[in-house]
Amino acid sequence: MLLSLEHMRRRARRRIPRVAFDYLDGGAGDEAGVRENRAAFDRLRFLPRALRNVDAVDPSATLFGRRWALPFGIAPIGLGNLVWPGADAMVCRAARDAGLPYTLSTAGTTAIETIRGLAPETSWFQLYVAREQTIAEDLIARAEGCEVLFVTVDVPAPARRPRDIANGLSLPLKPSLRMAADIACHPRWTAAMLRAGQPRFANIERYAPGATNAQALAAFMASQSSGRVDWAYLDWLRGRWLGRLVVKGLLAPEDVCRARDAGADAVVVSNHGGRQLEASVASLTMLPEIRRAVGPDFPLLLDSGVRSGADVVKALVAGADFVLIGRAAMYAVAAAGEAGVRDLVRLFEAEIRSVMAQLGVTRTQDLDAGLAYSDFGAVSSSRP
Ligand SMILES: Cc1cc2nc3c(=O)[nH]c(=O)nc-3n(C[C@H](O)[C@H](O)[C@H](O)COP(=O)(O)O)c2cc1C
Repeated sequence: MLLSLEHMRRRARRRIPRVAFDYLDGGAGDEAGVRENRAAFDRLRFLPRALRNVDAVDPSATLFGRRWALPFGIAPIGLGNLVWPGADAMVCRAARDAGLPYTLSTAGTTAIETIRGLAPETSWFQLYVAREQTIAEDLIARAEGCEVLFVTVDVPAPARRPRDIANGLSLPLKPSLRMAADIACHPRWTAAMLRAGQPRFANIERYAPGATNAQALAAFMASQSSGRVDWAYLDWLRGRWLGRLVVKGLLAPEDVCRARDAGADAVVVSNHGGRQLEASVASLTMLPEIRRAVGPDFPLLLDSGVRSGADVVKALVAGADFVLIGRAAMYAVAAAGEAGVRDLVRLFEAEIRSVMAQLGVTRTQDLDAGLAYSDFGAVSSSRP
């Protein structure tokens, strides 16, 4: 019986080797950004309304012309199968069965074709722009059929994540004595990994035919990471991709307005879960101002720091239309596999329903800024 996400996180820490847990749990620098994301959620408090009939709470939400069972989906996660072998597919299936979208990362460890086969209606793809244009072209062609393409723009340079450095994280894993001992203490993870083989960058390995082992492929990946993404690139991408285009990783209201004007269909307000720029402002902190700047109708998604159903509701109250969870889904899969993700979705649904009822709201579209109070006073996002 999993009681809370923290409970799942603790179980995940026991169940998988440190190198995998730290990769999932850690952030940039001293991780002040990770803590700030949580602090922003803690600072935002609800202002409940009473004496409203809340017999029939409906936690579904509309995004991109369709109704999702709950107002959240799964954020893109690179190297997911390091956390647990087969994790990408497990999370994808659990999301599909719950009526929620799943986003596969370019740096994911399962091929886009496999994920689309598993969940043709509910899988989205997230693009990291490669230095070689032909690679982006081909990835975009392979993503066709996904309704939604994310382009992540908050990784112009690699981040420094001390836990990964200390653990010697690399692909393939090259166990030091300490890592080998740690892996040996996690026989279930090790057995699953031996069965599945080491995680691979399944979406990009075909572009590096000379890279015959995972180490060469990792070197190829590093050589392809590119800081050259700019607004002209976004214009190009908008012309090239006919489906919905979502820009992930904006925090400045001006940038969100500019992305909207460039033809983006939505923006994910995100600081990458505190994994990129340690001293970044929390995405939740910026959300009300972004909502004011961009107007009531432009679709905004939020991630970074969401750890409960109450947090999902807080993001909606502060101006989001939809929420993404990153680490939460991965703690669940590390703690208890696919069943863990299903448990997590049930837990979040129960929390969302309960919080909405206590706020006096029956529909997610009615969760507005009047229901929130922060240390600084009322949170006005000027939603209708
Ligand atoms: C282990 C891990 C890997 C990630 N890989 C990617 C990625 O490949 N592409 C991407 O756009 N974001 C990536 N992110 C960021 C998530 O998509 C999301 O923005 C972040 O996890 C949200 O914060 P949260 O973990 O607090 O929910 C990753 C996050 C984690 C935890």
